[in-house]
Amino acid sequence: MDTLFDLAREALHCCSFDGKKKLIASIFCELGNEQFDVTGQVAPERISQAGRPSLPILVPPTEVKRRRLGSIEGRVALIHAVAHIELNAVNFALDAIYRFRGMPHQYYRDWIRVASEEATHFELLSERLRQLSSYYGELPAHGGMWAMAVATDYDVMARMALVPRVLEARGLDVTPGMIEKLRGVGDLDTVSIFQRILKEEVDHVRIGNEWFGWVCERRGLCALTAFKDLLQKHGRIALRGPFNEQARLDAGFTREELKELHWLEQEFRGQLQPVS
Ligand SMILES: [Fe+2]
Ligand SMILES: [Fe+2]
Repeated sequence: MDTLFDLAREALHCCSFDGKKKLIASIFCELGNEQFDVTGQVAPERISQAGRPSLPILVPPTEVKRRRLGSIEGRVALIHAVAHIELNAVNFALDAIYRFRGMPHQYYRDWIRVASEEATHFELLSERLRQLSSYYGELPAHGGMWAMAVATDYDVMARMALVPRVLEARGLDVTPGMIEKLRGVGDLDTVSIFQRILKEEVDHVRIGNEWFGWVCERRGLCALTAFKDLLQKHGRIALRGPFNEQARLDAGFTREELKELHWLEQEFRGQLQPVS
């Protein structure tokens, strides 16, 4: 019988979205069994690129076009970019299951729920693209997103710190602004999709926060210091502000952590004034 990790590996490598969705449903079934094995017989392999459809073509982020949201082309470009993030997020959640062995059962249940919600986000946005006479794959997309999965594949603590708490949490900062702009141009259908995504993303970041805290506690580490160290090591490229403090507090960040994020972000941008 396929184990949890075999199924997660297969889902990660699967290139078709529908195939991934079916495998996510199979993993859900596997996790319904109270006795599922979380040890894994074979060590996880490095996955330098997760399975994805042959389109879109991937380009450096600077080559992903941005347009004003007043035009349909502008909205299609935005929705396409977010759909691409969501498909990557499906793979991130599957990889959090596949790679990190021996975690409590609830960890795997949390991440399969995230994978399933990310798949729904992708579907909602793909459908919206079709309504706007486009489709996912029509435009070039950001080619560097998986890099953080590879950079943090050595440790669940690094993964929880950098993916949900930095990359996904960035979605909490920028989505309200996108919603306001979309509302301003009267695209209420896309507004309602983005509102749903924002609400569920708070929960994904909360899950990341909980498991990061859990690992730190088990290792006897101060979570704030561990987070700071990991940000210094990996976060220079990814950490961006300004931060949506309320959404981040709702997702379980502490005020101390937010203060630290703010300082580090300024330091990384070279904006801190030397103390004279
Ligand atoms: Fe999402
Ligand atoms: Fe998410």
